[in-house]
Amino acid sequence: MTFPRASLSILLCISALACTDAPATPATPATPETTATPTPAAPEGPGDSEPISALPTVQTNMAEVELGRRLYFDPILSGDGTVSCSSCHSLDHGGAEDRRTSTGIGGHIGPINAPSVLNAGFNFRQFWDGRAEDLQDQAGGPVENPGEMGATFGQVIPRIQADEWYAARFAQVFPGGDPVTKEHITHAIAEYERSLVTPSPVDRYLGGDASALNEQQRRGYALFKSTGCAGCHSGVNVGGGSYQKMGLVEDYFALRGGEQTDADLGRFNVTHDEADRHKFKVPTLRNVAESGPYFHDGSQAQLADAVRIMARVQLGKTLSDTEVTDLVAFLGALTGELPAHARLPADQAPPSRATPSGAAEQGATGTTAE
Ligand code: HEC
Ligand code: HEC
Repeated sequence: MTFPRASLSILLCISALACTDAPATPATPATPETTATPTPAAPEGPGDSEPISALPTVQTNMAEVELGRRLYFDPILSGDGTVSCSSCHSLDHGGAEDRRTSTGIGGHIGPINAPSVLNAGFNFRQFWDGRAEDLQDQAGGPVENPGEMGATFGQVIPRIQADEWYAARFAQVFPGGDPVTKEHITHAIAEYERSLVTPSPVDRYLGGDASALNEQQRRGYALFKSTGCAGCHSGVNVGGGSYQKMGLVEDYFALRGGEQTDADLGRFNVTHDEADRHKFKVPTLRNVAESGPYFHDGSQAQLADAVRIMARVQLGKTLSDTEVTDLVAFLGALTGELPAHARLPADQAPPSRATPSGAAEQGATGTTAE
Protein backbone atom coordinates (compact mmCIF):
# COMPACT_ATOMS: atom_id res chain seq x y z
CA MET A 1 0.00 0.00 0.00
CA THR A 2 1.24 3.47 -0.73
CA PHE A 3 0.38 6.39 1.49
CA PRO A 4 0.84 9.80 -0.06
CA ARG A 5 3.15 11.75 2.19
CA ALA A 6 0.93 14.80 2.46
CA SER A 7 -2.02 12.94 3.88
CA LEU A 8 -0.11 11.15 6.62
CA SER A 9 -0.24 14.22 8.79
CA ILE A 10 -4.01 14.01 9.25
CA LEU A 11 -4.35 11.06 11.51
CA LEU A 12 -7.47 10.18 13.36
CA CYS A 13 -7.13 8.23 16.52
CA ILE A 14 -9.89 5.75 17.10
CA SER A 15 -9.55 4.48 20.59
CA ALA A 16 -11.77 1.76 21.95
CA LEU A 17 -12.34 3.84 25.04
CA ALA A 18 -12.55 7.26 23.44
CA CYS A 19 -15.27 6.06 21.09
CA THR A 20 -17.57 5.21 23.95
CA ASP A 21 -17.50 8.86 24.96
CA ALA A 22 -19.44 9.76 21.84
CA PRO A 23 -22.58 11.77 22.59
CA ALA A 24 -24.64 8.96 21.10
CA THR A 25 -23.80 6.72 24.05
CA PRO A 26 -24.43 8.64 27.25
CA ALA A 27 -25.20 5.41 29.10
CA THR A 28 -21.63 4.14 28.78
CA PRO A 29 -19.33 6.73 30.26
CA ALA A 30 -16.25 4.55 30.07
CA THR A 31 -13.18 6.70 30.36
CA PRO A 32 -9.60 5.70 31.03
CA GLU A 33 -10.14 6.87 34.62
CA THR A 34 -13.05 4.55 35.30
CA THR A 35 -11.25 1.54 33.88
CA ALA A 36 -8.31 2.26 36.12
CA THR A 37 -10.43 2.52 39.26
CA PRO A 38 -11.51 -0.82 40.72
CA THR A 39 -15.25 -0.89 41.39
CA PRO A 40 -15.99 -1.39 45.07
CA ALA A 41 -17.30 -4.89 45.81
CA ALA A 42 -16.44 -5.68 42.22
CA PRO A 43 -17.77 -8.80 40.59
CA GLU A 44 -15.06 -11.05 39.30
CA GLY A 45 -13.16 -9.29 36.54
CA PRO A 46 -11.01 -10.61 33.72
CA GLY A 47 -7.96 -12.66 34.57
CA ASP A 48 -4.41 -12.02 33.42
CA SER A 49 -4.49 -14.19 30.33
CA GLU A 50 -7.84 -14.04 28.57
CA PRO A 51 -8.21 -15.80 25.22
CA ILE A 52 -9.87 -12.73 23.72
CA SER A 53 -8.58 -9.20 23.90
CA ALA A 54 -9.96 -5.67 23.88
CA LEU A 55 -9.93 -3.65 20.67
CA PRO A 56 -6.70 -1.73 20.23
CA THR A 57 -6.38 1.85 19.10
CA VAL A 58 -6.47 2.14 15.34
CA GLN A 59 -5.00 5.07 13.49
CA THR A 60 -6.64 6.05 10.25
CA ASN A 61 -6.36 8.95 7.88
CA MET A 62 -9.63 10.87 8.20
CA ALA A 63 -9.52 12.43 4.73
CA GLU A 64 -9.16 8.97 3.21
CA VAL A 65 -11.84 7.59 5.53
CA GLU A 66 -14.34 10.24 4.39
CA LEU A 67 -13.60 9.57 0.75
CA GLY A 68 -13.88 5.81 1.28
CA ARG A 69 -17.11 6.29 3.20
CA ARG A 70 -18.80 8.00 0.30
CA LEU A 71 -17.60 5.34 -2.11
CA TYR A 72 -18.86 2.64 0.25
CA PHE A 73 -22.40 4.01 0.10
CA ASP A 74 -22.33 4.90 -3.57
CA PRO A 75 -23.88 2.67 -6.27
CA ILE A 76 -21.61 4.49 -8.73
CA LEU A 77 -19.33 1.47 -8.25
CA SER A 78 -21.85 -0.93 -9.78
CA GLY A 79 -22.45 -1.62 -13.42
CA ASP A 80 -26.04 -0.36 -13.54
CA GLY A 81 -25.84 2.07 -10.60
CA THR A 82 -28.09 0.04 -8.31
CA VAL A 83 -25.77 -1.70 -5.84
CA SER A 84 -23.33 -0.29 -3.29
CA CYS A 85 -21.16 -1.98 -0.69
CA SER A 86 -23.75 -1.05 1.90
CA SER A 87 -26.46 -2.93 -0.03
CA CYS A 88 -24.94 -6.16 1.29
CA HIS A 89 -23.07 -4.83 4.32
CA SER A 90 -25.49 -2.58 6.16
CA LEU A 91 -24.35 -0.64 9.21
CA ASP A 92 -27.85 -1.24 10.55
CA HIS A 93 -27.38 -4.99 10.33
CA GLY A 94 -24.11 -5.55 12.12
CA GLY A 95 -22.19 -4.77 8.93
CA ALA A 96 -23.77 -7.74 7.16
CA GLU A 97 -27.13 -8.44 5.57
CA ASP A 98 -30.49 -9.87 6.43
CA ARG A 99 -30.38 -12.66 3.84
CA ARG A 100 -29.06 -16.19 3.63
CA THR A 101 -26.93 -15.28 0.65
CA SER A 102 -26.37 -11.98 -1.14
CA THR A 103 -28.42 -10.45 -3.89
CA GLY A 104 -26.31 -8.48 -6.31
CA ILE A 105 -26.84 -6.64 -9.54
CA GLY A 106 -29.92 -7.63 -11.52
CA GLY A 107 -31.28 -9.62 -8.56
CA HIS A 108 -28.49 -12.18 -8.91
CA ILE A 109 -28.52 -14.49 -5.88
CA GLY A 110 -25.00 -15.23 -4.71
CA PRO A 111 -23.65 -18.51 -3.34
CA ILE A 112 -22.62 -17.43 0.17
CA ASN A 113 -23.59 -15.29 3.16
CA ALA A 114 -22.08 -11.80 3.49
CA PRO A 115 -19.85 -11.48 6.58
CA SER A 116 -19.65 -8.29 8.62
CA VAL A 117 -17.37 -5.46 7.55
CA LEU A 118 -17.25 -4.14 11.11
CA ASN A 119 -13.82 -4.74 12.66
CA ALA A 120 -12.88 -6.66 9.49
CA GLY A 121 -9.48 -4.98 9.55
CA PHE A 122 -8.58 -7.31 12.43
CA ASN A 123 -9.17 -10.47 10.39
CA PHE A 124 -5.96 -12.22 9.34
CA ARG A 125 -7.37 -12.68 5.82
CA GLN A 126 -10.59 -11.63 4.07
CA PHE A 127 -13.45 -13.79 2.71
CA TRP A 128 -14.70 -17.07 4.16
CA ASP A 129 -11.97 -18.93 2.29
CA GLY A 130 -9.29 -16.31 2.93
CA ARG A 131 -8.64 -15.64 -0.74
CA ALA A 132 -8.00 -11.92 -0.19
CA GLU A 133 -4.99 -10.90 1.80
CA ASP A 134 -6.34 -7.65 3.21
CA LEU A 135 -9.14 -5.11 2.93
CA GLN A 136 -7.68 -3.29 -0.04
CA ASP A 137 -7.16 -6.55 -1.90
CA GLN A 138 -10.76 -7.48 -1.02
CA ALA A 139 -12.38 -4.20 -2.07
CA GLY A 140 -11.64 -4.69 -5.77
CA GLY A 141 -13.45 -8.03 -5.79
CA PRO A 142 -17.14 -7.10 -5.42
CA VAL A 143 -16.91 -4.22 -7.92
CA GLU A 144 -15.83 -6.54 -10.72
CA ASN A 145 -17.75 -9.60 -9.57
CA PRO A 146 -20.41 -10.06 -12.26
CA GLY A 147 -22.94 -11.30 -9.67
CA GLU A 148 -22.27 -8.56 -7.11
CA MET A 149 -21.64 -5.09 -8.55
CA GLY A 150 -21.02 -6.17 -12.13
CA ALA A 151 -18.78 -3.26 -13.12
CA THR A 152 -15.19 -2.82 -14.30
CA PHE A 153 -12.78 -0.21 -13.05
CA GLY A 154 -12.45 0.92 -16.63
CA GLN A 155 -16.13 1.82 -16.46
CA VAL A 156 -16.18 3.21 -12.92
CA ILE A 157 -13.10 5.47 -13.06
CA PRO A 158 -14.44 7.89 -15.73
CA ARG A 159 -17.73 8.16 -13.83
CA ILE A 160 -15.87 9.14 -10.69
CA GLN A 161 -13.65 11.56 -12.57
CA ALA A 162 -16.77 13.23 -13.98
CA ASP A 163 -18.23 13.81 -10.51
CA GLU A 164 -17.19 17.19 -9.10
CA TRP A 165 -17.11 16.16 -5.44
CA TYR A 166 -15.03 13.06 -6.12
CA ALA A 167 -12.68 14.82 -8.54
CA ALA A 168 -11.87 17.48 -5.94
CA ARG A 169 -11.53 15.00 -3.08
CA PHE A 170 -9.37 12.51 -4.93
CA ALA A 171 -7.04 15.30 -6.06
CA GLN A 172 -6.77 16.51 -2.48
CA VAL A 173 -6.28 13.09 -0.86
CA PHE A 174 -4.03 11.62 -3.55
CA PRO A 175 -2.08 14.61 -4.86
CA GLY A 176 0.29 14.24 -7.78
CA GLY A 177 -0.02 11.78 -10.64
CA ASP A 178 -3.33 10.28 -11.47
CA PRO A 179 -5.74 10.78 -8.56
CA VAL A 180 -8.58 8.42 -9.56
CA THR A 181 -7.18 4.91 -9.91
CA LYS A 182 -8.29 1.45 -8.82
CA GLU A 183 -5.46 1.51 -6.28
CA HIS A 184 -6.72 4.77 -4.73
CA ILE A 185 -10.39 3.77 -4.81
CA THR A 186 -9.76 0.48 -3.03
CA HIS A 187 -7.30 2.10 -0.65
CA ALA A 188 -9.85 4.72 0.45
CA ILE A 189 -12.60 2.13 0.92
CA ALA A 190 -10.24 -0.06 2.94
CA GLU A 191 -9.26 2.90 5.11
CA TYR A 192 -12.94 3.56 5.85
CA GLU A 193 -13.47 -0.09 6.75
CA ARG A 194 -10.41 -0.11 9.02
CA SER A 195 -12.05 2.74 10.91
CA LEU A 196 -15.21 0.70 11.58
CA VAL A 197 -14.12 -0.39 15.03
CA THR A 198 -16.93 -1.09 17.51
CA PRO A 199 -16.02 -1.14 21.21
CA SER A 200 -18.48 -3.20 23.24
CA PRO A 201 -19.26 -3.98 26.88
CA VAL A 202 -16.89 -6.97 26.57
CA ASP A 203 -14.05 -4.57 25.73
CA ARG A 204 -14.82 -2.50 28.81
CA TYR A 205 -14.88 -5.69 30.85
CA LEU A 206 -11.52 -6.80 29.43
CA GLY A 207 -10.22 -3.32 30.19
CA GLY A 208 -10.90 -3.96 33.87
CA ASP A 209 -14.49 -2.77 34.38
CA ALA A 210 -15.98 -5.97 35.78
CA SER A 211 -19.44 -4.41 36.04
CA ALA A 212 -19.57 -3.89 32.24
CA LEU A 213 -21.01 -7.40 31.98
CA ASN A 214 -24.00 -8.53 33.99
CA GLU A 215 -24.03 -11.83 35.82
CA GLN A 216 -25.56 -13.80 32.98
CA GLN A 217 -23.09 -12.38 30.46
CA ARG A 218 -20.20 -13.27 32.76
CA ARG A 219 -21.56 -16.81 33.10
CA GLY A 220 -21.77 -16.93 29.33
CA TYR A 221 -18.17 -15.82 29.00
CA ALA A 222 -17.05 -18.46 31.50
CA LEU A 223 -18.88 -21.07 29.42
CA PHE A 224 -17.42 -19.68 26.23
CA LYS A 225 -14.01 -20.49 27.65
CA SER A 226 -14.78 -23.76 29.47
CA THR A 227 -16.81 -25.26 26.61
CA GLY A 228 -14.00 -24.62 24.14
CA CYS A 229 -15.50 -21.90 21.91
CA ALA A 230 -12.53 -19.64 22.66
CA GLY A 231 -10.20 -22.28 21.22
CA CYS A 232 -11.21 -21.02 17.77
CA HIS A 233 -12.99 -17.72 18.46
CA SER A 234 -10.05 -16.01 20.12
CA GLY A 235 -7.94 -12.89 19.94
CA VAL A 236 -8.99 -9.32 19.31
CA ASN A 237 -11.75 -10.22 16.87
CA VAL A 238 -13.09 -13.18 18.85
CA GLY A 239 -12.33 -15.12 15.66
CA GLY A 240 -10.84 -14.02 12.36
CA GLY A 241 -7.45 -15.55 13.10
CA SER A 242 -7.42 -19.05 11.63
CA TYR A 243 -9.11 -21.52 9.28
CA GLN A 244 -11.02 -24.33 10.92
CA LYS A 245 -13.04 -27.20 9.63
CA MET A 246 -16.81 -26.72 9.78
CA GLY A 247 -17.81 -29.99 11.43
CA LEU A 248 -14.67 -30.89 13.31
CA VAL A 249 -16.22 -33.72 15.35
CA GLU A 250 -19.51 -34.29 13.52
CA ASP A 251 -20.36 -33.92 9.83
CA TYR A 252 -22.09 -30.54 9.63
CA PHE A 253 -23.16 -31.01 6.02
CA ALA A 254 -24.90 -34.30 6.77
CA LEU A 255 -26.65 -32.65 9.71
CA ARG A 256 -27.71 -29.69 7.56
CA GLY A 257 -28.87 -31.85 4.68
CA GLY A 258 -29.44 -30.56 1.18
CA GLU A 259 -27.07 -30.45 -1.75
CA GLN A 260 -23.49 -29.50 -1.12
CA THR A 261 -22.38 -26.44 -3.07
CA ASP A 262 -18.98 -25.24 -4.23
CA ALA A 263 -19.13 -22.61 -1.50
CA ASP A 264 -19.33 -25.42 1.06
CA LEU A 265 -15.81 -26.51 0.10
CA GLY A 266 -14.38 -23.39 1.76
CA ARG A 267 -10.62 -23.02 1.75
CA PHE A 268 -10.30 -26.06 -0.55
CA ASN A 269 -11.44 -23.79 -3.39
CA VAL A 270 -8.25 -21.79 -2.94
CA THR A 271 -5.64 -24.46 -2.18
CA HIS A 272 -7.16 -27.66 -3.69
CA ASP A 273 -5.63 -29.40 -0.73
CA GLU A 274 -7.86 -32.20 0.67
CA ALA A 275 -6.96 -31.11 4.19
CA ASP A 276 -8.71 -27.79 3.51
CA ARG A 277 -12.05 -29.25 2.46
CA HIS A 278 -14.86 -27.53 4.48
CA LYS A 279 -12.39 -25.24 6.24
CA PHE A 280 -13.47 -21.64 6.70
CA LYS A 281 -11.98 -18.57 8.24
CA VAL A 282 -13.36 -18.55 11.77
CA PRO A 283 -15.72 -15.57 11.69
CA THR A 284 -15.52 -12.74 14.19
CA LEU A 285 -18.23 -12.90 16.84
CA ARG A 286 -18.24 -9.14 17.33
CA ASN A 287 -21.73 -7.76 16.59
CA VAL A 288 -22.89 -11.31 15.87
CA ALA A 289 -26.23 -10.73 17.61
CA GLU A 290 -27.08 -8.31 14.78
CA SER A 291 -25.47 -9.92 11.77
CA GLY A 292 -27.58 -13.04 11.17
CA PRO A 293 -28.42 -15.28 9.46
CA TYR A 294 -25.42 -17.39 10.42
CA PHE A 295 -22.72 -19.56 8.90
CA HIS A 296 -21.26 -19.31 5.41
CA ASP A 297 -24.49 -20.76 4.04
CA GLY A 298 -26.73 -18.45 6.08
CA SER A 299 -28.58 -21.57 7.16
CA GLN A 300 -29.36 -20.50 10.73
CA ALA A 301 -31.66 -17.57 11.42
CA GLN A 302 -31.37 -17.76 15.22
CA LEU A 303 -28.16 -17.16 17.13
CA ALA A 304 -29.19 -19.74 19.75
CA ASP A 305 -29.42 -22.41 17.04
CA ALA A 306 -26.03 -21.45 15.63
CA VAL A 307 -24.54 -21.76 19.13
CA ARG A 308 -26.13 -25.19 19.67
CA ILE A 309 -24.82 -26.45 16.33
CA MET A 310 -21.34 -25.10 17.03
CA ALA A 311 -21.16 -26.92 20.37
CA ARG A 312 -22.31 -30.12 18.70
CA VAL A 313 -20.30 -30.23 15.46
CA GLN A 314 -17.13 -28.48 16.66
CA LEU A 315 -16.91 -29.74 20.22
CA GLY A 316 -19.17 -32.80 20.48
CA LYS A 317 -21.18 -31.22 23.27
CA THR A 318 -24.90 -30.88 23.86
CA LEU A 319 -25.67 -27.64 25.67
CA SER A 320 -28.60 -27.17 28.06
CA ASP A 321 -31.09 -24.40 27.32
CA THR A 322 -29.65 -22.33 30.16
CA GLU A 323 -26.14 -22.71 28.80
CA VAL A 324 -27.29 -21.62 25.36
CA THR A 325 -29.10 -18.59 26.80
CA ASP A 326 -26.03 -17.61 28.81
CA LEU A 327 -23.75 -17.95 25.79
CA VAL A 328 -26.15 -15.88 23.69
CA ALA A 329 -26.20 -13.22 26.43
CA PHE A 330 -22.41 -13.08 26.34
CA LEU A 331 -22.39 -12.83 22.54
CA GLY A 332 -24.89 -9.97 22.81
CA ALA A 333 -22.35 -8.09 24.92
CA LEU A 334 -20.04 -8.14 21.88
CA THR A 335 -22.40 -5.74 20.11
CA GLY A 336 -20.45 -2.49 19.98
CA GLU A 337 -20.89 1.17 19.20
CA LEU A 338 -20.20 2.44 15.72
CA PRO A 339 -17.79 5.36 15.61
CA ALA A 340 -19.55 8.70 15.13
CA HIS A 341 -18.11 9.16 11.64
CA ALA A 342 -19.32 5.77 10.33
CA ARG A 343 -22.50 7.04 8.72
CA LEU A 344 -22.59 9.14 5.62
CA PRO A 345 -23.66 12.74 6.28
CA ALA A 346 -27.05 13.38 4.67
CA ASP A 347 -25.63 16.04 2.37
CA GLN A 348 -23.31 13.44 0.84
CA ALA A 349 -25.99 10.88 0.09
CA PRO A 350 -25.34 9.78 -3.45
CA PRO A 351 -27.79 11.22 -5.95
CA SER A 352 -30.07 8.62 -7.37
CA ARG A 353 -27.84 7.19 -10.06
CA ALA A 354 -30.95 5.97 -11.61
CA THR A 355 -31.13 3.28 -14.18
CA PRO A 356 -34.10 3.13 -16.50
CA SER A 357 -35.84 1.10 -13.80
CA GLY A 358 -35.13 3.86 -11.27
CA ALA A 359 -33.92 1.28 -8.80
CA ALA A 360 -31.04 3.29 -7.45
CA GLU A 361 -32.55 4.97 -4.41
CA GLN A 362 -29.70 4.84 -1.94
CA GLY A 363 -30.39 6.39 1.43
CA ALA A 364 -27.73 7.87 3.66
CA THR A 365 -28.03 4.96 6.05
CA GLY A 366 -27.50 2.44 3.31
CA THR A 367 -30.41 0.20 4.15
CA THR A 368 -31.87 0.02 0.70
CA ALA A 369 -31.28 -3.65 0.12
CA GLU A 370 -32.98 -4.83 3.28
C1 HEC B 1 -23.99 -8.35 -3.69
C2 HEC B 1 -23.60 -8.29 -2.31
C3 HEC B 1 -22.27 -7.68 -1.96
C4 HEC B 1 -21.78 -6.44 -2.33
C5 HEC B 1 -22.40 -5.44 -3.23
C6 HEC B 1 -20.53 -6.30 -1.63
N1 HEC B 1 -20.27 -7.40 -0.87
FE1 HEC B 1 -18.73 -7.66 0.40
N2 HEC B 1 -19.21 -9.58 0.61
C7 HEC B 1 -20.34 -10.18 0.10
C8 HEC B 1 -20.23 -11.62 0.28
C9 HEC B 1 -21.27 -12.63 -0.14
C10 HEC B 1 -19.01 -11.85 0.91
C11 HEC B 1 -18.41 -13.21 1.26
C12 HEC B 1 -17.81 -13.79 -0.02
C13 HEC B 1 -16.88 -14.94 0.25
O1 HEC B 1 -16.35 -15.04 1.35
O2 HEC B 1 -16.64 -15.72 -0.69
C14 HEC B 1 -18.40 -10.55 1.12
C15 HEC B 1 -17.19 -10.34 1.79
C16 HEC B 1 -16.70 -9.09 2.12
C17 HEC B 1 -15.60 -8.84 3.02
C18 HEC B 1 -14.81 -9.89 3.77
C19 HEC B 1 -15.19 -9.95 5.23
C20 HEC B 1 -14.61 -11.15 5.90
O3 HEC B 1 -14.74 -11.29 7.11
O4 HEC B 1 -14.03 -12.01 5.22
C21 HEC B 1 -15.42 -7.49 3.06
C22 HEC B 1 -14.39 -6.73 3.87
C23 HEC B 1 -16.37 -6.90 2.15
N3 HEC B 1 -17.14 -7.91 1.61
C24 HEC B 1 -16.45 -5.56 1.81
C25 HEC B 1 -17.18 -5.10 0.72
C26 HEC B 1 -16.96 -3.81 0.07
C27 HEC B 1 -15.93 -2.78 0.49
C28 HEC B 1 -17.86 -3.71 -0.94
C29 HEC B 1 -18.04 -2.60 -1.95
C30 HEC B 1 -16.87 -2.29 -2.76
C31 HEC B 1 -18.64 -4.94 -0.92
N4 HEC B 1 -18.17 -5.75 0.08
C32 HEC B 1 -19.71 -5.19 -1.75
C33 HEC B 1 -21.39 -9.53 -0.50
C34 HEC B 1 -21.29 -8.28 -1.06
C1 HEC C 1 -13.02 -25.85 15.94
C2 HEC C 1 -13.19 -24.41 15.83
C3 HEC C 1 -14.47 -23.81 16.39
C4 HEC C 1 -15.01 -23.97 17.65
C5 HEC C 1 -14.48 -24.81 18.79
C6 HEC C 1 -16.19 -23.13 17.70
N1 HEC C 1 -16.35 -22.48 16.50
FE1 HEC C 1 -17.85 -21.21 16.06
N2 HEC C 1 -17.21 -21.16 14.14
C7 HEC C 1 -16.12 -21.82 13.63
C8 HEC C 1 -16.12 -21.74 12.19
C9 HEC C 1 -15.08 -22.33 11.24
C10 HEC C 1 -17.29 -21.04 11.84
C11 HEC C 1 -17.79 -20.75 10.43
C12 HEC C 1 -18.50 -21.99 9.95
C13 HEC C 1 -19.32 -21.79 8.71
O1 HEC C 1 -19.76 -20.69 8.45
O2 HEC C 1 -19.57 -22.76 8.00
C14 HEC C 1 -17.94 -20.67 13.09
C15 HEC C 1 -19.12 -19.93 13.16
C16 HEC C 1 -19.73 -19.55 14.35
C17 HEC C 1 -20.88 -18.70 14.43
C18 HEC C 1 -21.59 -18.03 13.28
C19 HEC C 1 -20.98 -16.67 13.01
C20 HEC C 1 -21.45 -16.02 11.75
O3 HEC C 1 -21.18 -14.83 11.60
O4 HEC C 1 -22.06 -16.66 10.89
C21 HEC C 1 -21.19 -18.57 15.77
C22 HEC C 1 -22.32 -17.77 16.36
C23 HEC C 1 -20.24 -19.37 16.50
N3 HEC C 1 -19.36 -19.93 15.60
C24 HEC C 1 -20.22 -19.50 17.86
C25 HEC C 1 -19.48 -20.49 18.52
C26 HEC C 1 -19.70 -20.89 19.89
C27 HEC C 1 -20.68 -20.26 20.84
C28 HEC C 1 -18.82 -21.91 20.14
C29 HEC C 1 -18.72 -22.75 21.38
C30 HEC C 1 -19.92 -23.47 21.73
C31 HEC C 1 -18.04 -22.11 18.92
N4 HEC C 1 -18.47 -21.25 17.97
C32 HEC C 1 -17.02 -23.04 18.79
C33 HEC C 1 -15.14 -22.47 14.37
C34 HEC C 1 -15.32 -22.88 15.69
